[in-house]
Amino acid sequence: MIRQAIIPLAGLGTRLLPLTSVFAKELLPINGKPGIEYILDECIEAGIKEVVFIISKKKEMIKKYFNNDQFYKKIITSKKDPRILHEYKKIKKYKKFIKFVYQNKPKGTGDAVLKTKNIIKDKFFLMLLPDDLIINKNCSKAMISIHNKKKCSIMASMKVNKKTVSRWGIYSKKNNINKDNFFIKDVIEKPNIKSAPSNNAVIGRYILPKKIFLKLKKLKKGKGGEIHITDAIRNLIKENEKFIGHSFKGKYLDCGTMSGYIKSSLEISRT
Ligand code: G1P
Repeated sequence: MIRQAIIPLAGLGTRLLPLTSVFAKELLPINGKPGIEYILDECIEAGIKEVVFIISKKKEMIKKYFNNDQFYKKIITSKKDPRILHEYKKIKKYKKFIKFVYQNKPKGTGDAVLKTKNIIKDKFFLMLLPDDLIINKNCSKAMISIHNKKKCSIMASMKVNKKTVSRWGIYSKKNNINKDNFFIKDVIEKPNIKSAPSNNAVIGRYILPKKIFLKLKKLKKGKGGEIHITDAIRNLIKENEKFIGHSFKGKYLDCGTMSGYIKSSLEISRT
């Protein structure tokens, strides 16, 4: 059973400057609602019982946003506005699910994951990267259902334009399980076009085993001087840990770049 999810939120958001110079990118509205709420809704609908937010001191704004129920309470007693009452109930619901841990230096996604090692209870947990929105179909739910059958690790996969492989983690396939799932032979963080084994990219939904913490503890810095979760996964695969790549059905929206962020609001407003 997958009961816990983690979400790395300590990134600086440089791809969304100037918006992120004073504001947490995950709170920026996408069609009128903070991006992080879409991610939380995906978790809750997928049956997750606890979500761990990995934030930094610079991003305490996120904690404040979800701990602000008293602020709403004061307003609704005097104003009786149904919309504010709805928001109050929503914040209270989210608050019950969320725990916070800190990653004060942005040393990479692998380092962020390591901060949750004393909180993760079960053999497997879910990780969602907040820049990657997937709409129309709950990707986490689909991956959890595959995990329940196969009892192994799973990562989301999407075919990308070959020219853009150096922006993603890229899979090398072992064999197909069926048309939507394959066993992963290897995964490489942001390879150049020449060395990329395919154009199947890692998208930010992962079901990871608790034993990844052992690999992360020993991991050295990789591409760009960061500690990458991809490198820890690679080390596990080398030791014959099974990882499945899942080609998800929903629509992917890249909210981590300015053009993608703008497009995502338009896309969601159409649904
Ligand atoms: C991260 C991962 C990368 C993955 C991508 C998906 O990269 O390191 O493997 O393909 O998310 O969005 P980042 O977006 O942090 O550069």
